[in-house]
Amino acid sequence: MKKNVIVSGMRPTGKMHLGHMHGALLNWKKLQEKYNCFYFIADWHALTSEYAHPDIIRKSAYDIIIDWISVGLDPEVSTFFIQSEIKEHAELYLIFSMITPLPWLERNPTYKEQLNELSQKNVYTYGFLGYPVLQAADILMYKANGVPVGEDQAPHVELTREIARRFNHLYEEVFPVPKVLLTPTSKLLGIDRRKMSKSYGNAIFLTDTDEKIDAKVAQMITDPQRARKTDPGDPTICNVFSFHEIYSDNETTETIRSECPSARIGCVDCKRKMASALKIGLEPIRAKRRELESDTDGVKEIVAEGNKKSRIIARETMEEVREAVKI
Ligand code: TRP
Ligand code: SF4
Repeated sequence: MKKNVIVSGMRPTGKMHLGHMHGALLNWKKLQEKYNCFYFIADWHALTSEYAHPDIIRKSAYDIIIDWISVGLDPEVSTFFIQSEIKEHAELYLIFSMITPLPWLERNPTYKEQLNELSQKNVYTYGFLGYPVLQAADILMYKANGVPVGEDQAPHVELTREIARRFNHLYEEVFPVPKVLLTPTSKLLGIDRRKMSKSYGNAIFLTDTDEKIDAKVAQMITDPQRARKTDPGDPTICNVFSFHEIYSDNETTETIRSECPSARIGCVDCKRKMASALKIGLEPIRAKRRELESDTDGVKEIVAEGNKKSRIIARETMEEVREAVKI
């Protein structure tokens, strides 16, 4: 039986951090066991916000693909590609733009929110309003059945579903209506206890050195109620403990769970243990990254292969689309 298709992408606007890894990436990794997965770099999408300073886009595109492979996404199993290399996405985007009613885009909650948040970057553009239409083209091009995304992206996939239905209704049944597969959110917060994000300056990156990790962990905010070492702490609300649950062995984690509430362990000590487990946990990922960095041609080849595979499918889909639209 043919495997169901999964499509998801990331905008190349910087390097990957632990929030990405324990949110999207490990979920993508799991999905590749069961589905035919297409994971891509949404560089045109990145241009919607970074058009004035696009240098970051090309620079991070390869960095991100290296991160993907380092955390265990397998280019032998899944297909990696770069959006702008498959020009068919632009054509499908154009056709979808003809059938997408403006109010669908204007009432998109992510659009309204971002317009407020990113005002300093001036995203009051035609391209930014049409962002979800391009996303629909990315998804439907490969006839995806599922799209793993975070909650903020769910409205975009809803729009994709509406566009698919509208196309099928107006012309021919070309596209499946893909499901939103909500990515479980990462439990790991940034070092200031807010959501981990590059723009907050609170992230631990997959590329951080041991020294950086030590410094960042030392700065982490723990249980805010625990001001002194003699105060009891509550691991269930402590971000350091969330890291222990992922990176430390069970014995260490259980010891902290029982000693923290009675102040038998101090935060400095607890953090030191965590930093050491985290460094050990990240080492295989960093080793894989070093290997890939010394073989840039190999990485380029992986991407070129993925582009080629994707292009073949994109061409087939566009044949059907042109036939359906009679153009
Ligand atoms: N908009 C997505 C984000 O910012 C990136 C993206 C572009 C995407 N095209 C996609 C995600 C298609 C899933 C499917 O995260
Ligand atoms: Fe958090 Fe550890 Fe401090 Fe407890 S001892 S509050 S788990 S850092």
